[in-house]
Amino acid sequence: MQTSHSRKIACVLGIETSCDDTAVAIYHQNSGILSHILKSQWTTHQPFGGVVPELASRDHIRFITPLIHEAITQANLRYSDLDGIAYTAGPGLIGALLVGASIAKSLAYSLGIPAIGVHHMEAHLQATMLEDPAPQYPFVALLVSGGHTQLVYAHQFGQYQLLGQSLDDAAGEAFDKSAKLLGLGYPGGPAIAKLALEGNASRFKLPRPLNERGNLNFSFSGLKTAVAHAWRDCPQTPTDRADLAASLQLAIVDSLTKKSLAALEHCQCSRLVIAGGVSANQLLRQRLLDGAKRENYQLYFPRSEFCTDNGAMVAVTGFLRFQQPKAQQSLAIDVRARWPLAEL
Ligand code: KG4
Ligand code: ZN
Repeated sequence: MQTSHSRKIACVLGIETSCDDTAVAIYHQNSGILSHILKSQWTTHQPFGGVVPELASRDHIRFITPLIHEAITQANLRYSDLDGIAYTAGPGLIGALLVGASIAKSLAYSLGIPAIGVHHMEAHLQATMLEDPAPQYPFVALLVSGGHTQLVYAHQFGQYQLLGQSLDDAAGEAFDKSAKLLGLGYPGGPAIAKLALEGNASRFKLPRPLNERGNLNFSFSGLKTAVAHAWRDCPQTPTDRADLAASLQLAIVDSLTKKSLAALEHCQCSRLVIAGGVSANQLLRQRLLDGAKRENYQLYFPRSEFCTDNGAMVAVTGFLRFQQPKAQQSLAIDVRARWPLAEL
């Protein structure tokens, strides 16, 4: 069964439960983000060195209702002030997605307002629209998270063309897996970035695969293996660990920077958006800013707290989707573990 709304949608509650962060936010057309709250499940997953899907679903169930209530209270609103609800429908962990979808649909049904499912990577990308200035279309976007590494050409809202992507591990995964190898805990990206500040990035020569001109795909699984071998073959002192962290970060940032700039050239485009958890990385931002300055490109990225998973990106994407003339919402609980962005 499908419903389409007639009510003007100005105030949207966003719910994000695709992985290990339970996050909610409220976006208003006139005032922007009114509240945003995130409860990390870090302490649940930390002992396992990675996300345990079943535990993630259970934590989402425990956290989600109090978080929604807190977001409404912080924004100084009543439930009846909401015009619509957006939730992450995929890609992500299926059980975790189902928690967000179920609560969004039931709450929307009880309030008599529409609910809409949004694509997690589109939401990461649209987080940049919360900044001033926001990027104008068209632009090239580098989407880098724990599960995805993609270069896309954004023609307009909702129309994305895939230019290149990782053929194996995502950049965030390379950070996380290497951090685990080096005994740095989870999530690995911030831990590697912190330790890299003390290390010598030119000490270990790590691979930059698919480096030939014109190739916009990435590969990071060989890097993880190279880190494992380098770590096995050295005395494993604190200096070795810091040097390896710095060398790894540089190798990942080199690949991301080079291919992003090549994608801009390929598309004859001067605007680059970076988004997703890895876009919080300071070295990546600096390298891209340097490259953009040299070539006269403009670089856009979300504030740090909106780079990693958050509810604000879902709320704003839902708001934009609701403005589309044919925004339809099914009453079914529909989520997708896999969902190519280009299918939107
Ligand atoms: O977007 P996100 O929060 O979740 C997914 O959609 O996957 O991204 C999480 C990823 C993790 O792999 C984490 O290690 C990485 O983003 N990350 C970073 C940094 N902050 C988070 N990687 C490098 N440098 C950072 N500062
Ligand atoms: Zn994400």
